[in-house]
Formats: sequence, structure tokens, C-alpha cells
Amino acid sequence: QKPVIAVVGSNMMDLITYYENAFPRIGETVLGKDFEIGFGGKGANQAVAAAKLGAEVIMVTAVGDDLFGPLVRKNFEEQGISSRYVKIVPGKSSGVAPIFVDPQGRNSIFIIPGANHYLDPEDVTRARDALRRASFLLLQLEIKMETTYYAIELTRKLGIKTILNPAPAQKLDWEKLQGIYLFAPNETELENLTGISVTSKESIQEGIERLLEKGLENVVVTLGDKGAMLGNREGFQFFPAYQAKSIDTTGAGDAFLGALGLFLAEGKPLEESIDLACAYAALSTEKRGTQKSFVKRQEFEEWLANASQKSET
Ligand code: RIB
Ligand code: NA
Repeated sequence: QKPVIAVVGSNMMDLITYYENAFPRIGETVLGKDFEIGFGGKGANQAVAAAKLGAEVIMVTAVGDDLFGPLVRKNFEEQGISSRYVKIVPGKSSGVAPIFVDPQGRNSIFIIPGANHYLDPEDVTRARDALRRASFLLLQLEIKMETTYYAIELTRKLGIKTILNPAPAQKLDWEKLQGIYLFAPNETELENLTGISVTSKESIQEGIERLLEKGLENVVVTLGDKGAMLGNREGFQFFPAYQAKSIDTTGAGDAFLGALGLFLAEGKPLEESIDLACAYAALSTEKRGTQKSFVKRQEFEEWLANASQKSET
């Protein structure tokens, strides 16, 4: 029996440009190095990561009635995720994400949500019977807030634990987030949400404190190539990153969240799940792109057997 994970969130077509020198300034034209199209979007990426590691995923999302819509639906099916709750929005474009990757593998991303912003609370209601079977729900902030808040409310009633990845960061109604299981920003989102600039481990802990004061139960901050920090009533715990030959970090946060949801749904403790999710995220940076850089369970376990963690600094 596979663990069941639900995602109510976005999907995007990633239009990825790899460039060699400087990013063009306004009015300037420069030669880029490479271009790739891939399936992305934070919701879809997290769903695919969980599915590749062995979850049954219930995906509630929306595509446009353009060229990309049918491709996105087909991709879900190919990943073993039903497209039953992938709504087609007439007259809208699918979500797209023009992504620019610099020579160090760092990215800058525009997102144009398109159809994602037409995913409504009713679409979540429509999936209610399927959602009931899930043990964890993964949420991000690339769909409209109304739908996200509604999903939290519904799954709270159904007894499903929610993991909220507040990406991209925006103003939140903390009242509506009461009772969620885990809140998972990255460093930048932590800064945006708390106003505390992340300069040290102490500042991260201070940021986490602020979030815990809002009534959150568990906060895990992803720290890129440094790892992750967990904070809750018991205190703080730092998880060092795994060594990886990184070439493209795009989607690493989503790899982390999809993996985290899956390991938790398998019944693993939170600490072990975070550690394994750090490993899965590190491995995803060794390949280009987002979803296509996520590997299946067996490849992950083989890699993990020889992996080592960075020493704490
Ligand atoms: O987190 C990475 C994702 O952010 C990309 O796949 C892109 O689509 C944007 O949503
Ligand atoms: Na990658």
C-alpha cells in the first residue's frame, strides 16, 4: 500500500535559459548558452518528487487551453499521477516560468501563473473524496490564497496534516494557518516574512522564533547548500547539507518538500524525514532542470549509500 499525498497547487512549463556571462541589461541583447523546456511549477514539482519516491499523489491543479495544457496533463499521467483533478481553464494560458540560470547554477525566475490563478475552492471540494485518503497535504503559494486557505480548512476537518511552503513569499493571514503541521520557507522567504535578515544561525533561529510566536507548530527553513534548520517547542535542530556536484539548483526546494511529505507519510519521524529530504534535494542539483532532475527511489537509495554530509561550520 503506497502512502497517499495530496497537492493542491501550481504547475508551470519551465522555459529555462542557461547563460554564460552577465544577464542582459535593459536595451541589451546578449547570446545565451542553452535552452530547455521542462515540466515545473512548485506544486507539480513537489507532487512528482513524492511520486518518484513511491507515493500515490492526488494532484489538484489547473492548466490553460493552450499548447501546454495537454502536455502537462500527459506528463502527470506518465509520472503515475492521475490528471482527473487537473482542470482545464478555457481562454487562459497555462502557467509558465521563464528561468535564467547563471554559470554557477544559480537561478532567477519569473512566474506567470495563468490558469493556476483560476483554481477555485470548488475544485478542491470536487476532489474531496480522493483527498480524504491522503495523510499529508502539500501547499505552496503559486495559486490564489483563497484556494490555499480553503484547502487548509477542508483538510483540517478531514484530519490531514498540512505542510505549507510559503513560496513565493507573500503576506499571510496567520489566523488561517493555525493547526497546520509544518511551515517550510527558504532563507529569502524567512526574511520576507519576518523582516529579519539571515546572516547567521542565530538570525535564522530568531526568524523561526517569530514564526513560532504566530502559533505555528513546526518550522523548517531550507538553507540551500548549507542544509536546513528545524524549530519547534522542543528547540532547534540543524541538518547539514549533503555533498553534491551541483550544476542547477532550480527545484531543489521542491525536491526537498516532496521528499519530506513522502517520508513523513511513510511514518518516519520528522527529524529523519528532514535529513532524507536534504539528501534528495542535494541529489537533484546534480542534474539540470526541475522535475527531470528528480530520481526514483532506487537511484536515490544507491546514491545515499555513498553520500556524505558537509561538516558543520
Ligand atoms: O521551485 C521551482 C519552480 O518555481 C520552477 O519549476 C518554476 O516553475 C517555479 O514555479
Ligand atoms: Na536540478
